[in-house]
Amino acid sequence: MGIASPRAGWWKEPIHKVELIWIIVAFLWGLGMFFMMIYWHGVGNQNLSNEAYRITPAAYAAKVDKMTEEYTVRQEGAFPVVRPPPGSDVYMMGRVYMWWPMLELVKGETYRLHLSSIDLQHGFSLQPVNINLQVHPGYESVVTMTPNQTGQFGIVCNEYCGFGHHTMTGRIYVVDNK
Ligand code: CUA
Repeated sequence: MGIASPRAGWWKEPIHKVELIWIIVAFLWGLGMFFMMIYWHGVGNQNLSNEAYRITPAAYAAKVDKMTEEYTVRQEGAFPVVRPPPGSDVYMMGRVYMWWPMLELVKGETYRLHLSSIDLQHGFSLQPVNINLQVHPGYESVVTMTPNQTGQFGIVCNEYCGFGHHTMTGRIYVVDNK
């Protein structure tokens, strides 16, 4: 009886100065990182503006299949390479474990790139330009883009999606109009 708990009143002990400084530093750092995202949206061209619509996986897969059937120009292994008309809506589908199909786009033309997943959450990371987007099943994201350099661009999945995650890749070709 009468023994005071050493923790009594812990909540009203004054905060140590060093700890307070660290809390303030961490808070300001977090705030700075938050505004970097906004800054980078304009300057870095990496956090792109997009539109998003609700869609079922089956409805999205149907759109991808329609484009693929109409505009496939060649086959690369298991992958069709699709060259839709310049300026059109183009579609890519994430699924375990691939980005489907491959696209061939024309430099200097503006496309609406649609992205969705038909199973799990995936990441769309366009290399080497380092454009990154989260891709969710049930949502169709649309990015308006104008490829400004020719070449072969790899896509890797940067959201862990299962045992084949590291093999989940895709490809976009950008060619000169001819
Ligand atoms: Cu798809 Cu990781």
